[in-house]
Amino acid sequence: MDKEEFIQKNKVFFEKWAKVYNFIEIAIKGVRKYISNLIPNSSSLEILDLCTGTGSLALKFATKNGHNITGIDLSEAMLIQAHKRNKFSNLRFMKGDATNLPFDDSNKDICSISFGLHDMPQEIRLEAFNEMVRVVKPTGYLIIADYNRPKNSLLQNLYFKLTAVYESEFYPSWYWGNYFTQLIKFHPCSLIHNKTFLGAYMRILVIKPKK
Ligand SMILES: C[S@@+](CC[C@H](N)C(=O)[O-])C[C@H]1O[C@@H](n2cnc3c(N)ncnc32)[C@H](O)[C@@H]1O
Repeated sequence: MDKEEFIQKNKVFFEKWAKVYNFIEIAIKGVRKYISNLIPNSSSLEILDLCTGTGSLALKFATKNGHNITGIDLSEAMLIQAHKRNKFSNLRFMKGDATNLPFDDSNKDICSISFGLHDMPQEIRLEAFNEMVRVVKPTGYLIIADYNRPKNSLLQNLYFKLTAVYESEFYPSWYWGNYFTQLIKFHPCSLIHNKTFLGAYMRILVIKPKK
């Protein structure tokens, strides 16, 4: 799919969801809490939250002392909600494309993306992952949280059918493509942390790109 077509589809899809998104994402509050607990409190880190949406994960990061956080998203409608919620001086939200980040190489300590990769076509997903690898420091790491495909075939089909009802057209290629494994193959990374949630419905990976 051509990028302009994707950007237009993303705009329309998230304009529909933006105002209600914060209510429906309550179900994954625990996932966000778990991710923010992975971030050390002590040192002052440069953190980038890609596909930040209404900013929930970035807001959690901002409660940690001393870190400098940037949340980036394509959707103006989602960013309007993020701006409204931002009371932190160490957090800024910007409009931007995950496949073309306005940062130098090796600029960030941590780059996170939660429930963003499943909302892109395959080629854009891989470009975004490449950008995450590019902007993170050799000492840094990536945090990826998204839908997971469990091993049990009954659960696999159940989770898929339930989620496909409300998800974007790009979700099936994420779910059936087993992208957690694919991404690591695309760029060699060491696995630091791997945790599933809600009966393996979701997964959090912390990976360190080999640079
Ligand atoms: C399901 S929401 C996830 C929001 C948030 N990260 C969360 O965990 O709730 C997916 C977000 O990814 C954004 N997105 C999709 N493709 C993008 C891209 N190429 N660059 C930046 N944002 C993108 C969408 O605009 C949307 O806000």
